[in-house]
Amino acid sequence: MQFFAFLSLLTAVRAAVVPAVGSSGHFHSPVPLDAVPQGKNITINGVLTYVSLPKGRFDPTVAVLLLTGELAPSSSSSQGSGADQWAAAGFATYAPDYLNGDALPTGGNVTTWAVNHGEAQTTPPLLAVISALKSHGVKQIATTGYCFGGLYTTRLVQNNTITVGTMAHPSSLNVPTDFELVKAQSHVPVEINNAELDTGFTPPLAVETDGVLGDGQYAPGYLRRQFDGVGHGFAVSLALSDPVQVAAKQGAFDTSLAFFKKHLK
Ligand SMILES: *[C@@H]1O[C@H](CO)[C@@H](O)[C@H](O)[C@H]1NC(C)=O
Ligand SMILES: *[C@@H]1O[C@H](CO)[C@@H](O)[C@H](O)[C@H]1NC(C)=O
Ligand SMILES: *[C@@H]1O[C@H](CO)[C@@H](O)[C@H](O)[C@H]1NC(C)=O
Repeated sequence: MQFFAFLSLLTAVRAAVVPAVGSSGHFHSPVPLDAVPQGKNITINGVLTYVSLPKGRFDPTVAVLLLTGELAPSSSSSQGSGADQWAAAGFATYAPDYLNGDALPTGGNVTTWAVNHGEAQTTPPLLAVISALKSHGVKQIATTGYCFGGLYTTRLVQNNTITVGTMAHPSSLNVPTDFELVKAQSHVPVEINNAELDTGFTPPLAVETDGVLGDGQYAPGYLRRQFDGVGHGFAVSLALSDPVQVAAKQGAFDTSLAFFKKHLK
């Protein structure tokens, strides 16, 4: 407790911006998994959204909102299979294309790309989909964000727009100030899956985040789990031949799922 209090004092003066990570910084090659998409592309309030529904009965008042990273459109197979995995776990799942049809191509320059993917461009389509879900009877939104989607999960947590938020290897946010804002104004529980080898949200930044939210300091609920031997992108794509990667991806999913179940009513 004292150590963390000291740590947050020490680091408050040097807030770090976690950069968006281009394809070369992804630990795993962002090759789509060759799963057949179970969901459909639907335009919701003007925004192309990949929608995947559970096969059996499900609660239509609860939605999972999946916020992709910068590399893949929500409908592509790797991130689509992520949405399908959430649907298979029993949740109506929505992955809006908040990249406005302009995902970062493999090998593309993330700095140049980011100029047209600031909050001014990204927030309106995101909020358009959320508003449509709410006006169609969705009462609880569980958000899961990957990479670049970590920033927007954090914004939705800060703004108390959602019920619960989880993220994996977040980027594009600011440590510790974005989490200090969470602590100051949010009542939304938050969970983070981070990677030991992430060059953006590094283990020291993860520990700094704990210094703000951990150790019971954030009453709504906080959990962080680090996955060793994997890097940025591990919760989205993987080499199926590597058991460490397979276990980490599944572990991140299971941790977020358990956190959702704990905090959804
Ligand atoms: C959804 O649309 C995207 C972009 O146009 C396309 O790449 C993808 O294959 C589509 N997915 C489905 C399931 O139709
Ligand atoms: C990406 O673009 C930025 C700004 O235009 C430039 O400074 C940088 O060198 C480029 N990076 C690469 C890897 O080409
Ligand atoms: C959150 O609230 C801030 C402050 O009002 C606003 O600038 C931002 O666009 C909001 N972001 C989201 C994703 O709701």
